[in-house]
Amino acid sequence: MRDLRREDILELLSLAEKIETGQIKPRMDGMLAALLFFEPSTRTFFSFETAVKRLGGATLTMAGTSGTSVSKGESMHDTLTTIDQYADLIVMRTTQEGAARYASEVLRAPVINAGDGANQHPTQAMLDLYSILKTQHTLEGLTVGLVGDLLLGRTVHSLAQALSDFKAKLIFASPSHLRMPDYIKEDLAEKGIEFMEVAQIEPYIPELDILYVTRIQRERFADPDDYEKVKNSYIITPEMLRGARPNFRVLHPLPRVNEIARGVDDTPYAYYFQQARNGVYTRQAIISKLLGLV
Ligand code: NCD
Repeated sequence: MRDLRREDILELLSLAEKIETGQIKPRMDGMLAALLFFEPSTRTFFSFETAVKRLGGATLTMAGTSGTSVSKGESMHDTLTTIDQYADLIVMRTTQEGAARYASEVLRAPVINAGDGANQHPTQAMLDLYSILKTQHTLEGLTVGLVGDLLLGRTVHSLAQALSDFKAKLIFASPSHLRMPDYIKEDLAEKGIEFMEVAQIEPYIPELDILYVTRIQRERFADPDDYEKVKNSYIITPEMLRGARPNFRVLHPLPRVNEIARGVDDTPYAYYFQQARNGVYTRQAIISKLLGLV
């Protein structure tokens, strides 16, 4: 996310809007996108597949490593270099942090990071920004609460950095040992972004434009008992949203476990499923830009 300048972000969001409204119809006919998902995925995988197919391209898919030579001991480097011989674009999700950046440096095809361990998830941040823009009609000067596992959740890292280009005021609510990493906070401080760290988000809800809720990242805990201690730290209920502003929206990258009560779905504030839909337009825009289709 750090590599994108404010004008790059705005250009991609404007492309996404033009794609959504049918003003432009980029085409990737005859092109192949490899979707390499070494970690589980529902929305990111399906929305990339939808995006590629809506652009008229085709997909080559690796979901998990069973059935591939990774299970025979092939290195990530050799697997990627091989797939680079076949595909025009590589979308990859890995448990290893920095794997997508490494791939982008050694491969011929453009590489999109679809999530690398607990590090970054930049295309999610782009669809989050697009969702914020659609619901708030601006990206400037918003107050955004980010709640949940801010240490191990990669979406909040990318989103906080993305919002730092738009003078956001950020409120971070997490269990004390799952706070936003220092390197992100240092970036925010450098850009003069106002942020605070709190234990509970409820008192701040009336001030928020956006509440971004995330799941505690169970699979990234070394000790399952530690997960048990924090798994119910945040549960957003309709009652908590009573004093919210009319423009207030709840976002979540999904999957949700229990951190947003189902009753919130029936309030005018819920936006997480539309947010998932926005992922298709945003990813169509990113792919179109990378492949020079626009
Ligand atoms: C997120 C992820 O994989 O980082 N999901 C997604 O891509 N929409 C969030 C999560 O798994 O908690």
